[in-house]
Amino acid sequence: MKNPNLALLLSLTFTVLTVGCSPKASTSAPSPAGKALTIGFAQTGAESDWRKANTKSMKDEAEKRGITLKFSDGQGKQENQISAVKNFITQHVDAIVIAPLVETGWEPVLKEAKAAKIPVIISDRTVKVDDESLYAGFVGSDFKTEGKMVADWLIKKTNGKGRILELQGTTGSAPANDRHSAFADAIKGTGLTIIDSQSGDFRRDNGKQVMEAFLKKYKKGDFDIVYAHNDDMALGAIQAIADAGLKPGTDVLVVSIDGLKEAVQAIVDGKINCVVECNPLAGAVVYDAVAKVVAGQPVPRISYNKDEMFDASNAKAAVATRQY
Ligand code: AHR
Repeated sequence: MKNPNLALLLSLTFTVLTVGCSPKASTSAPSPAGKALTIGFAQTGAESDWRKANTKSMKDEAEKRGITLKFSDGQGKQENQISAVKNFITQHVDAIVIAPLVETGWEPVLKEAKAAKIPVIISDRTVKVDDESLYAGFVGSDFKTEGKMVADWLIKKTNGKGRILELQGTTGSAPANDRHSAFADAIKGTGLTIIDSQSGDFRRDNGKQVMEAFLKKYKKGDFDIVYAHNDDMALGAIQAIADAGLKPGTDVLVVSIDGLKEAVQAIVDGKINCVVECNPLAGAVVYDAVAKVVAGQPVPRISYNKDEMFDASNAKAAVATRQY
């Protein structure tokens, strides 16, 4: 993007690209006949700063709209999320929002919600189910596009050459699956290769530990690039790289996904080279969708955020206005 002011404005805006019907999102979320909504939200946990910003957005927006939010922190366990959804069903909430930890294993509990006539919106991470009618719609980022954006940036920056160490997100989660597969597809046929790959579970301390283990296996000159599936793992990794006496961002290219203010600042400081945004500020868009579903109106099958990209060309202008 040539105009940095326009880029900034766009990065501040939680733009929604819709696939399916009803492309317009309302700016407020009146409940049917003015009834205050009670919504159950089954969150994955608090594994990253991105997740904390996502939870805050959901809670703040609920308060703003007079929504009674029943919030459950799954603490990184799918069974906790499934129990939470069952509880929400027992409590006869008006709707349920799930940010699913992993992609599979949701069918039985979604069938229970459907039988109880409680609509479900899937937020942030996608699920794999045979029967798509088990949930009303998906709102979140396109993780495949994010992985491809990182790969395209690297291909341009390196002329398609380099050995990559990959820090994957939570095993079985949609962002780990999609950010890996789309990235791997995009570098096919170039001289870029993933030489090793380990999960750091989207956690900063795990990212540091995995990078420390990599640095015992691979010395300076054995690898050129670290691709982290999120900023927290990248920030942990750059600490490990610096502790090992290497310069992150110079001796090793570091690329990641999320767009945390701290990661964009690390670009300004020369320690991270490229960050693709994954906007966590989902409250307004999710509750707009919930309000429509509860009112019996159609919602798009998929609503994707429009995510920006930051590197040395625009990070300085962007960092001041990052909201998370
Ligand atoms: O599902 C979104 C991912 O989950 C974010 O990239 C990561 O930071 C979070 O934990």
